[in-house]
Amino acid sequence: MSRLQGKTAIVTGGGRGIGAAIALRFAQEGASVMIADINEDQARATAVEISQQTGMRVAAHRCDVADPESVITMVEATRHHLGPANVLVNNAGIAVFREPLEMTPADWTRCISVDLEGAWHCARAVLTDMLSKRDGAIINIISNHAFTVIKDTFPYPVAKHALLGLTRSLGLQYADKGISVNAISPGYTDTQIAQDDFNRHPDPARARAETEAKQPPGRLCQPEEVAAVAVLLASNEARFMIGENIVIDGGVSIRMYE
Ligand SMILES: NC(=O)c1ccc[n+]([C@@H]2O[C@H](COP(=O)([O-])OP(=O)(O)OC[C@H]3O[C@@H](n4cnc5c(N)ncnc54)[C@H](O)[C@@H]3O)[C@@H](O)[C@H]2O)c1
Repeated sequence: MSRLQGKTAIVTGGGRGIGAAIALRFAQEGASVMIADINEDQARATAVEISQQTGMRVAAHRCDVADPESVITMVEATRHHLGPANVLVNNAGIAVFREPLEMTPADWTRCISVDLEGAWHCARAVLTDMLSKRDGAIINIISNHAFTVIKDTFPYPVAKHALLGLTRSLGLQYADKGISVNAISPGYTDTQIAQDDFNRHPDPARARAETEAKQPPGRLCQPEEVAAVAVLLASNEARFMIGENIVIDGGVSIRMYE
């Protein structure tokens, strides 16, 4: 299949997890891909693996999305090696889960600067090229924490709620300029970030089983299920979707209490 033939995509946090699954699917669909990740070794290893698997051009660049200079350097490297980006996936994110008054100022800054400001830094850095060609898709990977809340997960939902606001603001702003900005909100997804969460419990296997049981389908979301929707949003088939947020959470957020 080649739904993304001729496209150049940047996937932040693409070294592992959901981002790596998106990078792989994009390459399988014919896109050239830049994996932009703060973990350079991991990004390079993933890029090599995907490139060997798909035969596509897949590059890697160290990038801290919280640092605007680092983002600009990464976007320039993308332009140089793969051409100007016409797809951006803002996937890099961290989970900072605290009781609000126990949270330190550094926790707040780290979460907001990566999960929210990072997406804006990246969008800002690619928008000039996208606007000049009237061709761009920006996809923000949010969470069902964008519209529902769990106690003691502060300030992650604050950042993710705001990222939905960013999606809608930019979506409407550039709807008449050939740019679509949309979001995907996964529920509990089977990646390292989720495993780290389970590992904080005394019995990680039991914590996982209990979480799986709480999902209406009885299992966690798989990264490939998020990647499948990202392909649609990156493709030209979804250009009338503006400021949308596609929820992939197994029905958790539509369920009333049991
Ligand atoms: N796993 C879940 O249950 C879940 C659910 C909903 C939403 N999400 C969101 O999906 C996204 C990806 O999550 P994941 O589970 O794949 O996480 P992950 O921890 O497995 O991968 C995140 C990747 O982002 C990179 N990264 C972290 N900080 C960065 C920074 N400052 N700059 C650049 N790269 C950085 C990491 O090195 C890593 O490769 C995140 O935004 C997360 O909030 C995850």
